[in-house]
Amino acid sequence: MLLRSARSADPPLPTEFIAGLQRLDRATRRFLNRATVLLDVSRLVAGHPFRPDVSRFNLSELVLELVADQLPVAERLHVKLDTLAIKPDIVGYWDRVGVGLILDNLISNAMKYGAGALVEIGAESLGETPVTDGQLRLWVRDKGPGIAAEDQERIFARFQQAGTNKVAAGGFGVGLWVAREVARGMGGDIRVESQPGDGATFIVVLPRDVAAHLSDLKTGTA
Ligand SMILES: Nc1ncnc2c1ncn2[C@@H]1O[C@H](COP(=O)(O)OP(=O)(O)O)[C@@H](O)[C@H]1O
Ligand SMILES: [Mg+2]
Repeated sequence: MLLRSARSADPPLPTEFIAGLQRLDRATRRFLNRATVLLDVSRLVAGHPFRPDVSRFNLSELVLELVADQLPVAERLHVKLDTLAIKPDIVGYWDRVGVGLILDNLISNAMKYGAGALVEIGAESLGETPVTDGQLRLWVRDKGPGIAAEDQERIFARFQQAGTNKVAAGGFGVGLWVAREVARGMGGDIRVESQPGDGATFIVVLPRDVAAHLSDLKTGTA
């Protein structure tokens, strides 16, 4: 708010003043981000596995909202977020916060490692068959450097980062671990497909109805 009013102040404020506020704004966001990530991690490490709080909602709308929240970062990193592959009106039973955590992590990675290019976000439901219940597939595709085959599993472990861009990119190397813990807590999983040099696609698969899936597991019918 301060920054917005400083920008439109009349008479105009000195440019150093605005630049200082911008730095403060970025530092605060970075700090909040990291504190949030560390909190998620410490809960999981302390032996509180992710327990989904399941409700019925329109996932397509949630995904579009999550993408909209990332627009300021996208602008800063010169990324265009493409939402055309989000199928409309996918409704099911999941944990809203959990889906948000997973997608925020994947989208922020895609923007960070694939800065300056297009990031595509997709969502579709996969049909029910006699052997599988309905599933949801979400994906985030970037045009960054991609991930070497030998790193593709390792990056999902705690505090693991791939390649040589660690320091420059910042981060703790826990985002994907948290995202996978949350996806598995909902009875799903995350994997990556990547050809080094040709970007990366992170794919999340979740049951269409997390509550039904988990109760089937308990009674041994799944
Ligand atoms: N979209 C991506 N493109 C290339 N490398 C990625 C991408 N997402 C994740 N990685 C690699 O996986 C590592 C782990 O990711 P993550 O757990 O989110 O940690 P962080 O982003 O804090 O480094 C990253 O350090 C990076 O090496
Ligand atoms: Mg990350």
